[in-house]
Amino acid sequence: MQSRRDFVKFMGRTGLLAATVAPFISVAGTSAMDVLLNAETGQIPFKPLAPSYADDLLLVDGMEYSVVLSWGDKLNGKDTFGFNNDYVAMFPIKGDKHDCVMWVNHEYTNSRFVSKYTSKQTEPKTLAQVNEELYSVGGSLVRVKYDKKKGKWEYVANDPLNRRLTGLTEIPFAWNEPIAGHTKAVGTNSNCAGGITPWGTLLTCEENYDDCWGEMDQEGKMTDKKTAWGWEAYYSNSPWHYGWVVEVEPFTGKAKKLVALGRIAHEAATTEALPDGRCVVYTGDDHNDECLYKFISDKPNSLETGMLYVANMENGEWVSLDWSKQEVLQKNFKNQTEVLIHTRKAAELVGGTKLDRPEDIEIDPLTGNVFVACTNNTPKGNYHGSILKIIETNGRDGLTFKHEVFLAGGKEMGFACPDNMEFDKKGNLWFTSDMSGKAISGDENYKGFGNNSLFYVPFSGPDAGKVVRVASGPVDSELTGPKFSPDYKTLFLCVQHPGEYSTDEKLSSHWPLGGDNIPKPSVIAISGASLDALMR
Ligand code: FEO
Ligand code: CA
Ligand code: CA
Ligand code: CA
Repeated sequence: MQSRRDFVKFMGRTGLLAATVAPFISVAGTSAMDVLLNAETGQIPFKPLAPSYADDLLLVDGMEYSVVLSWGDKLNGKDTFGFNNDYVAMFPIKGDKHDCVMWVNHEYTNSRFVSKYTSKQTEPKTLAQVNEELYSVGGSLVRVKYDKKKGKWEYVANDPLNRRLTGLTEIPFAWNEPIAGHTKAVGTNSNCAGGITPWGTLLTCEENYDDCWGEMDQEGKMTDKKTAWGWEAYYSNSPWHYGWVVEVEPFTGKAKKLVALGRIAHEAATTEALPDGRCVVYTGDDHNDECLYKFISDKPNSLETGMLYVANMENGEWVSLDWSKQEVLQKNFKNQTEVLIHTRKAAELVGGTKLDRPEDIEIDPLTGNVFVACTNNTPKGNYHGSILKIIETNGRDGLTFKHEVFLAGGKEMGFACPDNMEFDKKGNLWFTSDMSGKAISGDENYKGFGNNSLFYVPFSGPDAGKVVRVASGPVDSELTGPKFSPDYKTLFLCVQHPGEYSTDEKLSSHWPLGGDNIPKPSVIAISGASLDALMR
């Protein structure tokens, strides 16, 4: 069991971590961790993986995986599992840790694989093709069970709890005014990371919404932002209907868009309950030079109303986006609804600090500090990103904080572009990297990092602060959504966009089926003696 003393000792060092901890050398045979060590010493009981460019999902010794769900798997008579799996959340059914509803985000589509629209098709996409793409995004709710005899997690086909939210599902706004003239949006898209509320609902975050339906300025005029998919040839959805956090009831699929949390490229929504039942949510805007936010609800067990604050890092202040109190917002917007639709502009007006693409956010279960993965900001020359630590200085609902760099990416540390994070039950950190496929295959700044990977950072013991590569993804993939099973015996991990840079002539990945098969984004379940050893 980890002692509080060990933990505090390490936390005392963390401000210096990036500069002072001996870098982990991730080539087998050269690191102190290359010795198989027993659990009693507290050292990591396996050799870390070396960087790899293999088209395979590689794991350290003592961990193995099985595929739980792949794109296209039949959930029931009408529904199939969507594309590009990202965030994962687990909801035990009647408290059973081995029988759960699993939520999985489906972030974006791929015309080559989903609608078979390639450069060989000379005519524009058909409506049927567009509908297939819209169906492939959103999220899935799927019953998954641990089969003790087989020793693995499997999904339950045709279970009544299986359902889809897609780019075509009607979802109401939880707000007292229509948004762009409507009380409901058609669909959810760009579902990246998310969170779970203290009352057991799911939060799924609409990130790069402007790739889907473009962007509209304050006057209601479309900007010249080019969309990625061409769905507007058949639909005229308002851009203002996307870029929200969506709350979903996991056992019914009932959903609503939470306008109060603002409209940005939400990456994640990380919650903590206040003693009186109100809720704090941290959420970041994953875009170059965009901001970090904190929302404080004003009612227990609801995120429908409350106040949104933006981080001013220089002053260590959460600055409110309250139209009724901020003169500069009154000058630029006609009411709070307009502030929330144009959150980025409002944040800039009140002095929100521009960050290097804040991605996932996790709260350290032992200290309550808030970890924010700032993945990179290449126009500013930040190629490798870092993980920030926010230390609230006036309680969870206070408006002041300190911050420091917890871990900086780079060649010496063996990782670049941190993205999704997860704390395990012992308070140790797991995180994934997200270097773009193009960067991995040809950019000098990313040479030698291997494919995107999963890393483990112990916070206590002799290896505290080291960065250990545990899994390496197939070609072009990003590993997303690390989530432990409720019993911490299994780590679910998504393999997103394997083979994304395939061409008409050549598939760049064949994972997971191998051979000549097309690549399929999939959720895997990782388990084994090495994982068990880390959880003891
Ligand atoms: Fe969808 Fe910011 O990653
Ligand atoms: Ca991400
Ligand atoms: Ca996370
Ligand atoms: Ca990313």
